[in-house]
Amino acid sequence: MTERILFPAAAIAARLDELAAELTAFYTGKPLTVLAILNGSLVFAADLLRRIPLPLRLECLNVASYHGGLESSGVVTFQQNNLPDLDGRHVLILDDILDTGRTLHAVKCRLFKETHPLDVRVAVLLKKRKERAEPLEADYAGFEIGDEFVIGYGLDYDGRYRNLPEVRVLEP
Ligand code: IMP
Ligand code: MG
Repeated sequence: MTERILFPAAAIAARLDELAAELTAFYTGKPLTVLAILNGSLVFAADLLRRIPLPLRLECLNVASYHGGLESSGVVTFQQNNLPDLDGRHVLILDDILDTGRTLHAVKCRLFKETHPLDVRVAVLLKKRKERAEPLEADYAGFEIGDEFVIGYGLDYDGRYRNLPEVRVLEP
């Protein structure tokens, strides 16, 4: 396996500045709850939220869909029984990457079934240019990439590489 740098730390930081400015403009004056999907969005969320000077709330949801491989298993597992109270809130879901769309679709469906938010939007650091298995698109994305497997900046392969400061492509 080799690792090729796709987005260096400085490029990510510059893009987060832009995203944060856009989000701050949109959510000013609205009751915002950020829902970070763990573990993948931990680094993205930490860096993005510190650029948004609004009185937001942060909630986290542990969701798994990969279970170790390079391909999504298609099975989305929630590790919590209860969702946070999102009634009357503008919810911004954060995830590391939009791939098949199954994870974010499952999260959104559960939110609408079990809570009454005013609005739900999705922001991802990366989105893959490919056909989705579920009808889900991101409202905000840091970068669009090809259909390749990436690691670093929160993204893992088999639990490793999340602490890399840049995004790299993992190639056989
Ligand atoms: P989806 O449900 O297929 O859209 O996949 C979303 C989840 O799969 C993400 O939150 C990631 O945790 C994981 N994932 C998808 N693509 C990659 C990748 O290229 N590298 C690492 N994790 C990925
Ligand atoms: Mg993952």
